[in-house]
Amino acid sequence: MEDQPLPEGTLQNILEQETLKWVFVGGKGGVGKTTCSSILSILLASVRSSVLIISTDPAHNLSDAFQQRFTKTPTLVNGFSNLYAMEVDPTVEHEDMSSSDGMDNLFNELAGAIPGIDEAMSFAEMLKLVQTMDYSVIVFDTAPTGHTLRLLQFPSVLEKGLAKVMSLKNKFGGLFSQMTRMFGMGDDFGEDAILGKLEGMKDVIEQVNMQFKDPDMTTFVCVCIPEFLSLYETERLVQELTKFEIDTHNIIINQVIFDDEDVESKLLKARMKMQQKYLDQFYMLYDDFNITKLPLLPQEVTGVEALRSFSRHFKTPYESICSKDQVERLENRVTALQQQLKEAEEELERVKTGKNKD
Ligand SMILES: Nc1ncnc2c1ncn2[C@@H]1O[C@H](COP(=O)(O)OP(=O)(O)OP(=O)(O)O)[C@@H](O)[C@H]1O
Ligand SMILES: [Mg+2]
Repeated sequence: MEDQPLPEGTLQNILEQETLKWVFVGGKGGVGKTTCSSILSILLASVRSSVLIISTDPAHNLSDAFQQRFTKTPTLVNGFSNLYAMEVDPTVEHEDMSSSDGMDNLFNELAGAIPGIDEAMSFAEMLKLVQTMDYSVIVFDTAPTGHTLRLLQFPSVLEKGLAKVMSLKNKFGGLFSQMTRMFGMGDDFGEDAILGKLEGMKDVIEQVNMQFKDPDMTTFVCVCIPEFLSLYETERLVQELTKFEIDTHNIIINQVIFDDEDVESKLLKARMKMQQKYLDQFYMLYDDFNITKLPLLPQEVTGVEALRSFSRHFKTPYESICSKDQVERLENRVTALQQQLKEAEEELERVKTGKNKD
């Protein structure tokens, strides 16, 4: 009996899951996170009342994808009535915490005691803001792997911060508030203010933490490419998500070169063979996931028009029709991408060896 090809996966399941509130899109650098999250937000906008896409990558590129400038307040995407975009920098200073130097000192003290607390607090502030805005669904274009996972740990970081302030307060009691007064901080900026701030955020944190761990409300879409490094990183990402109890059941494999009888190019054929090896491994490792394959295009996917056109591959499996001219352009694209990958791997090596030295 001949093997029946498996039915190809799509991202239709995300569009149909009406209870979803938070959709994270993540993966290694350059694999297509921004492209995929932008397209998901466009598709969701056609089935939901309102959609917000947020980039938490300090190297923002929603502006590139949509060819429109965005800021840290939600802005309507041109051509839409219910799709908003914003770019936030999770590493920004806690600028709106207080204008008082004393408070800043105290805060810095706290930031030193609990690594990641400042980042966690600005992320929490942002989530608090977004929560009040009542979007039907929020899509995150996240930064490359490590960073995203750090942000997802933020609730426990903040809880530690709260516990720390509490213990300081209990330990030093009146002395603590005397000191804050001594250093010129009025009641508005004293320890009660910090406590209040953290306590106020605690509710949001608990609520969001609960939502992030609820597979009806939150899912993480992993984007990758059919290459060794990406397979390896995806496995690490999936394991971490499992550890944090965050649902993930979609993998997008981007930049796939599809076998086409008309293609005679040796370069493309060799590339396809290499990709097939990793595709097989993805299907083997993630047989309980929806795996969506996206074709490598000869050109970039920028602008709403291009994103919309590419979005069809999110809903129906790819069928290729390749012309001679397209093969040539694909070849050039593959060469350019190989170069980019080589540079990225070298960079990664440099970062790794740099870290080991510390
Ligand atoms: N299937 C594809 N075919 C051709 N070009 C693509 C494809 N997918 C993405 N691109 C292009 O590749 C580049 C990188 O994609 P994208 O910005 O979505 O990746 P990213 O994972 O967000 O990268 P970064 O980690 O730098 O944020 C973009 O210029 C995008 O237009
Ligand atoms: Mg990006």
